[in-house]
Amino acid sequence: MATYETLLVETQGAVTLIRLNRPQALNALNTQVLADLIAAFAAYDADPTQRCAVLTGSEKAFAAGADIKEMQPKSFAEMYAENFFAGFEKVTATRKPWIAAVAGFALGGGCELAMMADFILAADTAKFGQPEIKLGVAPGMGGSQRLTRAVGKAKAMEMCLTGRMMDAAEAERASLVARVVPAAELIDEAMKSAQAIAAMPPLAAIANKEMVNAAFETGLAQGILFERRLFNGLCATQDKAEGMTAFVEKRPGNWTGK
Ligand code: CAA
Repeated sequence: MATYETLLVETQGAVTLIRLNRPQALNALNTQVLADLIAAFAAYDADPTQRCAVLTGSEKAFAAGADIKEMQPKSFAEMYAENFFAGFEKVTATRKPWIAAVAGFALGGGCELAMMADFILAADTAKFGQPEIKLGVAPGMGGSQRLTRAVGKAKAMEMCLTGRMMDAAEAERASLVARVVPAAELIDEAMKSAQAIAAMPPLAAIANKEMVNAAFETGLAQGILFERRLFNGLCATQDKAEGMTAFVEKRPGNWTGK
């Protein structure tokens, strides 16, 4: 298993657990963290033994944002030339499912990274926010778009314009997170969800993810057509034949990923 400067990565069965590990900076997302995340997610995606991933931080912070100290001296020209933050598109290109398990602060880029996950499980200590306005900037890793799609205009606009934090209960009411669990149980609950996903037929898992994500990119008719075509396509897989036969024979399915 590869090692990373800013991440701790382990596998438990078919689940990859990735921990952000820059405690001295509350897991602020600098260039090294991004490079490590790109490499870790690519390795997860390419490993046929791995079927779901969990990304988490520490008890105090999932991530307190992009690294302000790294950005402070940068000019527009430098950021534009480097296409700063564009690398996160490689993280969102991960085809297999992954969950963000968030405890503590998920601010700015931290909130944005969590929203790149297929869903967020939150500890009751989680706090979400887009406080970039207080630094004279604005969300830069997709927050203005993903937060608005998740919670609607009113709350997204209020969060971006005031920089206030949303606690876990409010985040659940606003549909930003799938579920809130006690902080002490966050990793266990996230691993349980991930193990459940990992036990599903893998091609169907990817197809389900692609369909739901298509809802953010297409109109309703095109989205439904995309869904139906993918559904029809899944009917050509061995796992579809196995899944339906197993149901009829009242036994668990035995997946091949084919
Ligand atoms: N970048 C760099 N360093 C950070 C950081 C960040 N985003 N957030 C925290 N740190 C560092 C602090 O500077 C501090 O380091 P030192 O001990 O060397 O001073 C260390 O982490 C611990 O932080 P605090 O002492 O501030 O901890 P706290 O408990 O008092 O406060 C906090 C916690 C409220 C999260 C506070 O750290 C904070 O407000 N952080 C910044 C949050 C923020 O503005 N995030 C948005 C960043 S911009 C962005 O993300 C752009 C984008 O859209 C992609």
